[in-house]
Amino acid sequence: MKLLRKPRSRTAAFLPLCWLLLKILQPGHSHLYNNRYAGDKVVRVIPKTEEEAYALKKTYHQFKVDLWQPSSISYISEGTVTDVHIPRNASQVLLTFFQEANIQYKILIEDLQKVLENDSTMGTQRNRRSLSEYNYEVYHSLEEIQSWMHHLNKTHSGLIQMFSIGRSYEGRSLLILKMGRKSRAYKRAVWIDCGIHAREWIGPAFCQWFVKEALLTYRSDPVMRKMLNHLDFYIMPVFNVDGYHFSWTHDRFWRKTRSKNSRSRCRGADANRNWKVKWCDEGASVHPCDDTYCGPFPESEPEVKAVANFLRKHRKHIRAYLSFHAYAQMLLYPYSYKYATIPNFSCVESAAYKAVKALRSVHGVRYRYGPASSTLYVSSGSSMDWAYKNGIPYAFAFELRDTGHFGFLLPEILIRPTCTETMLAVKNITMHLLKKCP
Ligand SMILES: *[C@@H]1O[C@H](CO)[C@@H](O)[C@H](O)[C@H]1NC(C)=O
Ligand SMILES: *[C@@H]1O[C@H](CO)[C@@H](O)[C@H](O)[C@H]1NC(C)=O
Ligand SMILES: *[C@@H]1O[C@H](CO)[C@@H](O)[C@H](O)[C@H]1NC(C)=O
Ligand SMILES: *[C@@H]1O[C@H](CO)[C@@H](O)[C@H](O)[C@H]1NC(C)=O
Ligand SMILES: *[C@@H]1O[C@H](CO)[C@@H](O)[C@H](O)[C@H]1NC(C)=O
Ligand SMILES: [Zn+2]
Repeated sequence: MKLLRKPRSRTAAFLPLCWLLLKILQPGHSHLYNNRYAGDKVVRVIPKTEEEAYALKKTYHQFKVDLWQPSSISYISEGTVTDVHIPRNASQVLLTFFQEANIQYKILIEDLQKVLENDSTMGTQRNRRSLSEYNYEVYHSLEEIQSWMHHLNKTHSGLIQMFSIGRSYEGRSLLILKMGRKSRAYKRAVWIDCGIHAREWIGPAFCQWFVKEALLTYRSDPVMRKMLNHLDFYIMPVFNVDGYHFSWTHDRFWRKTRSKNSRSRCRGADANRNWKVKWCDEGASVHPCDDTYCGPFPESEPEVKAVANFLRKHRKHIRAYLSFHAYAQMLLYPYSYKYATIPNFSCVESAAYKAVKALRSVHGVRYRYGPASSTLYVSSGSSMDWAYKNGIPYAFAFELRDTGHFGFLLPEILIRPTCTETMLAVKNITMHLLKKCP
């Protein structure tokens, strides 16, 4: 099967995977993901006191729930919005526990399988060849995204070049699109990555949207023309290719990479805690089963190492690092690993302020913005901090829509409005780079 490029492990191990994939992609399938989310709920709790927070932590730990927000149990304290995906066999016990402990909760999603199937166009034929026919308002599988990239590399060679920066743990190509008008003159560059975290599907959808808009409006929009004439964009639509693929075939809510751990049966590390910047300190976990596991050593994940190598090699001309996540509606800048003000605070802050204002002008959607540590939470070993510390003066992480109504299951109908407004923010930041900032 073309989808599965030479995996490291034995082919036999992949046969069930192929089978599952066929089941999922089959038109007229009965249930996605083998119906594994039937009856699962997503519940929001905001602990009112530290005692409640402590009780929640203990309970979530005990039931091994899938935490949607924040990304780790350790972040939970008084006032933290916690969105948690509860498996059906635990929901009765947990909800009873909340009631008896007098902890207020709100059910965000009553039946996860229903929401997932209601929206999903997975399995319908959407893999159109030409740019004008390609459907950017649905989520695409890894195979679809990669063949789209190959296609652009062939048909838009004037503005686009594709290359690989290495291979993932399971042996998939780590593909990058370089977009910009070819020029012999020295060009500054912007790096954009999407999909570090597998389940945040709106990220890769935005990366595709960005490329589409650039190609479609290059001739008609003076701002876009200026961007592509003066800058090169390195775009990595799917950073965590193995994890993204796994989120299509096995577990819709998978976050990490798929590497094997020598110390545990749990797989994967958090590709946004694996960077060599205060690695594995606050906000990262040493336990391989945790969603924020930092990995056995910095850059242990081949995907992180490949991108870090690329950025190291090109850091002199890369002026901005932009990374796309979901969900929270935030625009974050360094530091993430500590409460401190960055040296270039005023330039970065005003770029963020204007970008958020531009974003809001489209559909009125509000984004919070600020240093990641104080706006979201402290996390060590993040790509954004690493980029900043390695000399890229503008480093941002977007947390796209929404604020928890659908969470990771942002419906496809919201791809267009989300990407349209985000596009304006990215253009605004990019134009800011081209100006001098003291
Ligand atoms: C729910 O099912 C899972 C997998 O079958 C099992 O590991 C877990 O212990 C069960 N939890 C409860 C509370 O019954
Ligand atoms: C399914 O989608 C329809 C239309 O988008 C919506 O009205 C309905 O509430 C959805 N049902 C569920 C269970 O999400
Ligand atoms: C992109 O296209 C060029 C020439 O058209 C080709 O040499 C190159 O191998 C292609 N990139 C990839 C990763 O296939
Ligand atoms: C950036 O956004 C600000 C605030 O909305 C706006 O005044 C400015 O014109 C925008 N710049 C560009 C180049 O889009
Ligand atoms: C701050 O910005 C200036 C000008 O853009 C740049 O030369 C310098 O390297 C930046 N410093 C840091 C720490 O990013
Ligand atoms: Zn993320």
